[in-house]
Amino acid sequence: MCPGSFDPPTLGHLDVIGRAAGLFEQVTVGVLVNPDKRGLFTVDERMHLLAATTGQWPNVTVDSFRGLLVDYCRDNGITAIIKGLRAVSDFDYELQMAQMNTGLTGVDTLFLPTSAEYSFVSSSLVKQVAAYGGDVSSYLPPMVFEALRAKL
Ligand code: PNS
Repeated sequence: MCPGSFDPPTLGHLDVIGRAAGLFEQVTVGVLVNPDKRGLFTVDERMHLLAATTGQWPNVTVDSFRGLLVDYCRDNGITAIIKGLRAVSDFDYELQMAQMNTGLTGVDTLFLPTSAEYSFVSSSLVKQVAAYGGDVSSYLPPMVFEALRAKL
């Protein structure tokens, strides 16, 4: 399971998803439905962008989930959560979540270091820079870049 908000998916996300697809027989990309946070893209839009940009990996499927990630994993027979780590700053919170998730149901989390060229890329930063007219085309799949341009 590669979970996230994916608002929108970046090349950093796809880097982690693609590498997970090479390591595991089956990978689910899970988009969190967060009722407390309205994103720029709807969950359906994010799922559509993810499905289109992960098409080269036949073992990747895209779904959404609400509530606890561990419940989704348990209900779907998923035994590993994959998270990309960009920098040490990601580690504290990711470790906390990983340990909580293992405590809840025993599901394991595996951390993949993101490729160096995407170590500073985040959806929120990309949205902020794009909103002020900055060029974020190197950090997004072309389809996502176009969708972001259309939104803004
Ligand atoms: O892309 P994000 O926003 O960094 O992803 C965070 C996400 C969705 C992986 C995390 O918030 C999550 O797992 N949310 C689901 C609710 C949950 O299980 N919370 C308890 C975590 S210990």
